[in-house]
Amino acid sequence: MILQAENVIKRYQNQLALDYFSMSINEGEVIGLLGPNGAGKTTFIKTLIGLLSIDEGEINVFGIKQDGKNKDIRRQIGYVTQEITIYEEMTAKENLAFFGSLYGLKKEKLDRRILEVAEIIGLKDKLNQKAGHFSGGMKRRLNIGCALLHEPKLLILDEPTVGIDPQSRNYILEFVRKAHETGMTILYTSHYIEEVEAVASRVLIMDQGHPIAEGTLRELIERIKGDSHLLIDVRIGSEEVREKLQALPDVKEVALNDNQYHVIVPGGVIVIDRIIPILSSQGIVNINSKQPNLEDVFLTLTGKQLRDEV
Ligand SMILES: Nc1ncnc2c1ncn2[C@@H]1O[C@H](COP(=O)(O)OP(=O)(O)OP(=O)(O)O)[C@@H](O)[C@H]1O
Ligand SMILES: [Mg+2]
Repeated sequence: MILQAENVIKRYQNQLALDYFSMSINEGEVIGLLGPNGAGKTTFIKTLIGLLSIDEGEINVFGIKQDGKNKDIRRQIGYVTQEITIYEEMTAKENLAFFGSLYGLKKEKLDRRILEVAEIIGLKDKLNQKAGHFSGGMKRRLNIGCALLHEPKLLILDEPTVGIDPQSRNYILEFVRKAHETGMTILYTSHYIEEVEAVASRVLIMDQGHPIAEGTLRELIERIKGDSHLLIDVRIGSEEVREKLQALPDVKEVALNDNQYHVIVPGGVIVIDRIIPILSSQGIVNINSKQPNLEDVFLTLTGKQLRDEV
């Protein structure tokens, strides 16, 4: 067992950020921690690393109780923070050397690891260039490299692909897949469902500081498999009409995204004859049914869409 967190409560003054949050990570897993903005993902990471104290509950990392004092835990974790943390005025190599030395790597071992890591993050040809001249995606890759030098037992990536180019994003996702194959244990947070679907061997969905559902992708989708999902495009959607649809008996959830209503009903229930009269004034453009995915798990369980809040 790499991590075991039980009923963790964390408050920032009056704000409850973790609300009886529990999760575990087994060795060799890539666990996708999925939750919308403000769900508590970064807060949980900081508590497990020992950067933040908890108010109640217990966290054990590598079998050691996390009380913020034990340096052995931190030494075996590679933490890629949500904000990129590298030194822009230093070259890629100098950055790697600096972070490696923080973890006690020296001389030959450090040189060897710098080359190995540069290869992994695809920056071998750029080692002598200043990090400040890199694109956002290259900076992120360097940032990940800095967390890999000491060969951590647990790698934590906190929304590593936000705001970077598609090529670097694919590079990072590919890196995670390969790292999984080599047996590395990874905690990957994101609010992008497709990413978590692509890389995670197990998924934990959280909202408002609390775990909502946990399992493999297949298990989570199985939970909602019985439901039917209707996608109805109209010319102009409205919140008022969404509420009317939501109020229909048998309708589980209705979300409105641009001009598309997403209606979830239990399998076998026919609602379309009741929906059409409500939507007729909005100009129905298209009606489709679809296979449920992870996004629908979130919508079904929370009644919310997993999207960026503006
Ligand atoms: N230092 C702080 N002081 C007060 N409240 C905080 C602090 N840090 C986070 N919060 C609040 O705690 C809650 C959880 O925040 P957290 O950053 O852990 O969420 P998150 O899931 O990482 O979100 P995001 O996807 O935006 O990174 C939010 O309501 C946030 O506003
Ligand atoms: Mg965060």
